[in-house]
Amino acid sequence: MKVICVENEAAVGKEAARLISAMIRLKPDCNLGLATGTTPMTTYNELVRMYKEEGLDFSKVSTFNLDEYIGLDADHPQSYAYFMDEHLLSKVNIKKENTHIPNGKTLRVDRTCSAYDKKIEDRGGLDLQLLGIGRNGHIGFNEPGDKFVAETHQINLTDDTIEANSRFFECEEDVPRTAITTGMRSIMHAGRIVLIATGESKADAVHAMLYGEIIPQVPASLLQLHPEITVIVDRAALAGSSLADSLFSAD
Ligand code: F6R
Repeated sequence: MKVICVENEAAVGKEAARLISAMIRLKPDCNLGLATGTTPMTTYNELVRMYKEEGLDFSKVSTFNLDEYIGLDADHPQSYAYFMDEHLLSKVNIKKENTHIPNGKTLRVDRTCSAYDKKIEDRGGLDLQLLGIGRNGHIGFNEPGDKFVAETHQINLTDDTIEANSRFFECEEDVPRTAITTGMRSIMHAGRIVLIATGESKADAVHAMLYGEIIPQVPASLLQLHPEITVIVDRAALAGSSLADSLFSAD
């Protein structure tokens, strides 16, 4: 794992966008795996800026989002489909038909999940996967559990995730209890992974991901086995780790 520690959230976004834009320039028809949440917002802002000011071309790019809440329409303001439109997809020259997000309103969850995996595989897999990380070590909505799940699947969100994500909803009761998430296979098969984390609340999860045992109770720990992963964090997200001590000792 390569770890890049920068000053703050804005710098994390710039660095992640730099890696993603490099992929787009190298392979204009690349398949990007994308995440939602607070952390990637600065990355998407920077990609939109690069599109507007530097001509970064999304016209051949395809995107596959990691996850979606079950039960929310794509036009629900808290759905991840809505989030992606708001923060990136409607602001760059990507073709709508090249953007993919699991359908949270499906009546056949199993079929939707296997079709999603097949679509990613048929397109040759992901060239680059952008990930955030949950306070509990989840990636996508692969929550801590007894085993790593390879396929896209339905998941019951943990109390910690429901509580963490309630900030986007009017109250905790409104947070959907289930979601569809891509599994560990499409993530681990991505040619390159960029994981971003900011803030003190992620420090324990980042530490467990970097140094902990590879166990399904910390889904992100599996990333230790990926050959091409770059972790971009701000100082707060590294707080307390031995890596932070050595990185900051010169200050
Ligand atoms: C959402 C996703 C999640 C988030 C994680 C962190 O698509 O993949 O794993 O990355 O919950 O969320 P934020 O960035 O809101 O702290």
